[in-house]
Amino acid sequence: MNAVAADFGPAPSLWKRRHLLDLESLSAPELLCVLDTAARFKQATNGCRSKLPVLTGKTTCNLFFENSTRTRTSFSLAARRLGADTVEFAASSSSLSKGETFIDTAKNIQAMNVDALVIRHVSPGTPHILSNNLQCSVINAGDGAHEHPTQGLLDIMTIREHRGSLEGLTVALVGDIAHSRTARSNIWGLKRLGAHVIVCGPATLVSRAWESFGVEVAYSLDEILPRCDVLNLLRVQFERQTTRPFPSVREYALLYAMNRERMARAKPNILIMAPGPINRGVEITPDVADGPQSVILDQVTNGLAVRMAVLWLVTSQGE
Ligand code: CP
Repeated sequence: MNAVAADFGPAPSLWKRRHLLDLESLSAPELLCVLDTAARFKQATNGCRSKLPVLTGKTTCNLFFENSTRTRTSFSLAARRLGADTVEFAASSSSLSKGETFIDTAKNIQAMNVDALVIRHVSPGTPHILSNNLQCSVINAGDGAHEHPTQGLLDIMTIREHRGSLEGLTVALVGDIAHSRTARSNIWGLKRLGAHVIVCGPATLVSRAWESFGVEVAYSLDEILPRCDVLNLLRVQFERQTTRPFPSVREYALLYAMNRERMARAKPNILIMAPGPINRGVEITPDVADGPQSVILDQVTNGLAVRMAVLWLVTSQGE
């Protein structure tokens, strides 16, 4: 380890986990530990631009069974910025097609001395299954509609950067809550850190059952808008839907898209967020997505910092 990396110091003793599988099981101090570590990495790497080789000699592997732009690229870049080797697993050209099981595939990758597997899979619980069968670290990069913990963390990091604290803020998650792993991870993290969370969307995509998560359920964006400090606009996940949840995209946009007219009725310092990919004109209009209140690309940069922090924390266990 070089002098700059040595100066960064050891991983915080509070962090004891070898895996990051969800935010549901993380305590408030653990959430703050990741967020503070991510902020330190961001500062020490000149805004996630330069290298800080604290993972030299380590290897990470991305196993993505679903498409991704942000998560996959930023896990790769985060590992490289920290001096780790990283390898991409291409499911479509792998020996899974010859009958090898998913767990055998993961065990074979681990046998090549991989320290951390980053897994995205359409089936909820897949990262948990891997963590029970492997010795290396497992990081959930999105499992079906269950959780997307690093997305939740980068969203919360972005709010913290702009507002200092989550305590007392009203954060609305708007859109396709039913199919959103991002919503679940945000809810666990935001609530544990003191925010009031509203889930808002058409009744076909936002069940009253969400109240059992301790969040407010709303069906009118216009009614809740004046109270919101942050809006996180979730994509309508047509690919996960088996029935049509609203008559037309035009009607959805009329009721739930954040546009110039709604911005005029929102708090002047409202933060406009979206986990991406965004569908311009559906959940957000281009002028709002690219406008002064939008922090959508800050979220992407913070994704690098959060993934650096997570890779370092989980692979530092046992050293
Ligand atoms: N937000 C998010 O997970 O984006 P990708 O699907 O592009 O990784």
